[in-house]
Amino acid sequence: MAFEHVDYTSLDVPAAPFSDPSIIPAFPKNKVPRHIGIIMDGNGRWAQRRGLTRTNGHQAAEPVVFDTIAGAIEAGVRYLSLYTFSTENWKRSPQEVRFLMGFSRDIIHRRVAQMDEWGVRVRWSGRRPKLWKSVIDELEVAMERTKYNSTIDVVFCINYGGRAEIADAAAAIAKKVRDGKISGDRVTESMVAEHLYNPDIPDCDLVIRTSGEQRTSNFLPWEAAYAELDFSSQLFPDYGRKALWRSIDHYVHRDRRFGGVNAK
Ligand code: IPE
Ligand code: IPE
Ligand code: MG
Repeated sequence: MAFEHVDYTSLDVPAAPFSDPSIIPAFPKNKVPRHIGIIMDGNGRWAQRRGLTRTNGHQAAEPVVFDTIAGAIEAGVRYLSLYTFSTENWKRSPQEVRFLMGFSRDIIHRRVAQMDEWGVRVRWSGRRPKLWKSVIDELEVAMERTKYNSTIDVVFCINYGGRAEIADAAAAIAKKVRDGKISGDRVTESMVAEHLYNPDIPDCDLVIRTSGEQRTSNFLPWEAAYAELDFSSQLFPDYGRKALWRSIDHYVHRDRRFGGVNAK
């Protein structure tokens, strides 16, 4: 089936783990983005439109997160970064912050067996200070349990801020200079890249944002410096694997030049 002719609205796909192979679009293997980042936005508006609480919107996002991970696995994506809680999200009400912390902790705990079964290697990007210790503890348990999995790396970006990440890299480099481990005469791009939170993860190829907002809100400024952007008007609880495949289809038709000129 040619991908262009898939009618997304008529496909009844089971939520998890895997779809009927005949409905998975056959993307050219070398064209699938290796690393996708998703700004999962719009939970509050989704709930508000239904007369529900913001908390209900976050709850509605949970199965969608896992449907999206399953869709990424099916499409052959190797790294998936999920913007879960930003360094700016502490500005929200104490009730919402408390809910988001507890909910993140519980999801990682409840879903680790499922992720392990799917071959997911759980990763974390973010800052330790302020982040709940119980969230860090669950992340560490999940990272340890899944460290040999290699189907997909799912990076939960929790208490993540791109400027914080670059500032932390600069501080780590400054410390090494101070300790005489490296010379401070020449700071290279690769030196900065080596001091990011997960230096082994390749640059981000595609950043997707749901909810219609067209900004990146401090998400992966270094790693996604040359990423393609895909803005979806769907609110995150309405997203999922079929929508992800549509975003990937947009991506495979892009012409990435990296400042050069592609031969026609
Ligand atoms: C995204 O949805 C979830 C987080 C930022 C934690 P929002 O909570 O930002 O939903 P909107 O943007 O208010 O609709
Ligand atoms: C970005 O969404 C952060 C996450 C999805 C975790 P926000 O809703 O916090 O971003 P702004 O406030 O619209 O920029
Ligand atoms: Mg938002």
